[in-house]
Amino acid sequence: MTDSKGWDWKQLEGERKRMWQEPAIEYYYIAKRWKNEGFKNSLDLGSGLGRHAIALAKDGFKVSAFDISEDGMEELKKVSKEENLDIDTKIGDMINLPYEDGEFDSIFCYNVISHQDTSGVKKVIEEIKRVLKPDGECFLTLQSKSTWGFKQDWPVIDENTKLKMVPGEEYEVPHFYADPDLIRDLFKDFNIISLRHIENFWKKEDGYTSSFHYHVLIKKDK
Ligand SMILES: C[S@@+](CC[C@H](N)C(=O)[O-])C[C@H]1O[C@@H](n2cnc3c(N)ncnc32)[C@H](O)[C@@H]1O
Repeated sequence: MTDSKGWDWKQLEGERKRMWQEPAIEYYYIAKRWKNEGFKNSLDLGSGLGRHAIALAKDGFKVSAFDISEDGMEELKKVSKEENLDIDTKIGDMINLPYEDGEFDSIFCYNVISHQDTSGVKKVIEEIKRVLKPDGECFLTLQSKSTWGFKQDWPVIDENTKLKMVPGEEYEVPHFYADPDLIRDLFKDFNIISLRHIENFWKKEDGYTSSFHYHVLIKKDK
């Protein structure tokens, strides 16, 4: 298994930082679904600056936030104190989660588990299964093999994983890339409620750039 490496959130400023401070569009559907399911608590796994932990807490969930990056977590603690939100925060590596078996109704994990190699991703999925309650759900995203990063001449860790070599917050962070067959195999022990292939576009000075992710909603069996 390759070494885990979190994001260096101190490298992000201005507009590039602001986009990580607003919940992703998908958050609103998922939070509503989980309210309707009667879910009470949620883990923001790989919480970063905490945009989803904060939103979940404001939406009435009992929230735990977990990340390997101390500077991201410091920022989340600062905001939750300012906004008087009660969010449990823990620092660590997602391949060993410091939570009880069956502790969570739900897990929100946006653009996180791809920061492992293939064996690390499998270990994180085992951990997700362990800490979810029966009938609990996890929404997560995975980088797609169709995206530009998988086509780069970066150091190869295994058949699905490369080390990203772009200077900045993700420098030398492992990136795992998936396809539908691999996803169906990774989540064979879960009920896959939805699997979508999403292309996101960003405006740049000289036009647009885009990246592809899989968005996966899974339910643990009873
Ligand atoms: C792309 S950011 C996403 C942050 C957040 N989920 C969001 O949507 O705003 C990925 C996050 O995963 C964290 N991360 C990467 N590897 C990790 C690991 N092994 N254990 C825990 N967190 C990790 C990084 O530190 C970073 O904060």
